[in-house]
Amino acid sequence: MIAYFNGTYLPREEISISPDDRGFLFADGLYEVIRAYNGRLFKTGGHINRLNHGAAHLNLGIRDFSYLSEVARQLLEKNGLTADATIYFQVTRGAAPRGHAFPEPSPEPTVFASASPFDPAPTRLNMEKGIGVILVPDQRWARCDMKTVGLTANVLANQQAKEKGAKEALFVRDGVILEGTHSNFMAVMDNCLVTAPASNYILHGITRKLVLALCAENDIPHREAPVFATDLPGLTEAFITGTTTEITPVTAVDGSPVGSGLPGPVTRKLQKAFAARIEEDCGKQA
Ligand code: PDD
Repeated sequence: MIAYFNGTYLPREEISISPDDRGFLFADGLYEVIRAYNGRLFKTGGHINRLNHGAAHLNLGIRDFSYLSEVARQLLEKNGLTADATIYFQVTRGAAPRGHAFPEPSPEPTVFASASPFDPAPTRLNMEKGIGVILVPDQRWARCDMKTVGLTANVLANQQAKEKGAKEALFVRDGVILEGTHSNFMAVMDNCLVTAPASNYILHGITRKLVLALCAENDIPHREAPVFATDLPGLTEAFITGTTTEITPVTAVDGSPVGSGLPGPVTRKLQKAFAARIEEDCGKQA
């Protein structure tokens, strides 16, 4: 596969990253995952804006990554990816002798991008049948709005879910169900869709934002407010959202069914609206 590394396109296996890279040493960097349908990128602008937001807060040497949308397009083309694919971006502060504070002079940021074919079948199955999830205490830091590559807590929580036969772990802080290890969380209670406010405690998901817009367009009552773990018995529906998970129903939490234990009508309506939006932006799905 052809990848992009610091301004050059080259075979992925020819890329070597310095052991002094601050992404490697300190997780001092950011990433994004973008989905392509029919070889066409979906919601690129939102992902680039979020990367720029993180870069500004981290004070990286590059603050405007808008050129990466063209890089992403080129990677799809150079790799002949005309169907389902994902693009991965990672940017770090760059390579410099180890020291916690920002290096002086500032190194050139490391910028990496790659494209991979994406098999939609497992997601489609989960979207159809729903998944079980577990609750875990949120042991992450308090700047989850930045998509940094520091994912240790997410890795451990997701592994815990896997070992329990669940598909995702949801982080709970102060009794609030915030989001998953790689997805946002939404619930339906009292006929209203509720999701945690876009604070520093969650990633401001591109899919989350689109789903809230689709609620507005489809007259689905919705609000951004905390969903407490104690609300679980009263939920009629729940689902997770994300670039690779789209809108996946959550039918059980810690082994107890959510609502009827089957994907509900609000979830189904939003899945349909979401599929229509993909078709509008990227053409009809195979
Ligand atoms: N993860 N919350 C977290 C912690 C995430 O890592 C992600 C995405 C989301 C959903 O955001 P979006 O709708 O913009 O994809 C929420 C990506 C897909 C990943 O880590 O693979």
